[in-house]
Amino acid sequence: MSSLLLDNIGELVTNTAAGEGPLGIRRDAAVLVEDGVVAWVGPSGDAPAADQRLDAESGAVLPGFVDSHAHLVFAGDRAVEFAARMAGEPYTGGGIRTTVGATRAATDDELRATARRLHAEALRQGTTTIEIKSGYGLTVADEARSLRIAAEVSSETTFLGAHLVPAEYADRPDDYVDLVCGPMLAAAAPYARWVDVFCERGAFDADHTRAILTRGQAAGLDTRLHANQLGPGPGVQLGVELGVASVDHCTHLTDADVDALVGADGTTVATLLPGAEFSTRSPYPDARRLLDAGVTVALATDCNPGSSYTSSVPFCIALAVREMRMSPSEAVWAATAGGAAALRRTDVGRLAPGARADLMILDAPSHLHLAYRPGVPLIRQVLHNGEPQCRP
Ligand code: NIG
Ligand code: FE
Repeated sequence: MSSLLLDNIGELVTNTAAGEGPLGIRRDAAVLVEDGVVAWVGPSGDAPAADQRLDAESGAVLPGFVDSHAHLVFAGDRAVEFAARMAGEPYTGGGIRTTVGATRAATDDELRATARRLHAEALRQGTTTIEIKSGYGLTVADEARSLRIAAEVSSETTFLGAHLVPAEYADRPDDYVDLVCGPMLAAAAPYARWVDVFCERGAFDADHTRAILTRGQAAGLDTRLHANQLGPGPGVQLGVELGVASVDHCTHLTDADVDALVGADGTTVATLLPGAEFSTRSPYPDARRLLDAGVTVALATDCNPGSSYTSSVPFCIALAVREMRMSPSEAVWAATAGGAAALRRTDVGRLAPGARADLMILDAPSHLHLAYRPGVPLIRQVLHNGEPQCRP
């Protein structure tokens, strides 16, 4: 058994009732890690002996970020499309087909290199759990290999064969849905924990979404949904009805959508992805309306080459605070405990005995600095399963 004592912590965010406020903040605390798991949290004066000591140098310590929405398996980029948007072109999602073409043409090693590069980039920025979707293959073989590669990097893998109807099925979308529900799901399921659908005008309607999620559930997958990103639609209420873990984007919500999320009582989380609104120059979701109504909110990056090419949760926290009127504490909670709720995980997103020793040490005394000092590399060290990830 190996043990490590983390002490001299400026502020410890636990996300538990054992500390102050919504983040469960403890001061003068130390954390004992044994075999990759948090074994003890308490006053530093009472800390047990350990094989090794890690000095937080008065920096804040937080649970690792749980990025519950990312697309890391793809080839190429769409920087030119981004530049055109910044010059006034609208975002429609149609660019997904550009990435599908590049992804199908790429080798396994090329896809693997990109997924690993982005995963490492996220880890350096404090993300210790990341969900990874397929969705840029859209053939049986390309979806299966995307998920096989995603599973090499994360256990939180999501089958998104229903990302867009590919060009070869453009005039027969029902046939494509049959393919997704049948052979594609069968090939993808061994590598996937989740099934997801882009439920949006121009992508998949309510009937398609219900069919795909229901078949995915029957194949043993848990469910999540892209909903109400580009306009109002049936996604959020359908997601709540089907008991999905999370409805993601939630940019265009009616009162009935918000009521449905309130009624879900945390079973279905609203995941907000402000990187997408930033990169598509769109109005941000109304986080305050959701929080004030009592909805459980998560924040994630939506890292993908089209609508949100950032792996940075701190950037999304800064956007949520500045542009969506979330408090810094609400944003940090949403990016840690909220992400864990969106992935139905209880072992991450909090720091308490029994949790995974996934945490970050900031070069700053408080979590407030994540929004207060945007764009600054504040994360000095990351521990994943108790193992330090950044060189000193
Ligand atoms: O979450 N909405 C659908 N999927 C991605 C966009 C993917 C793309 O543009 O390549 C999203 O924003
Ligand atoms: Fe997405």
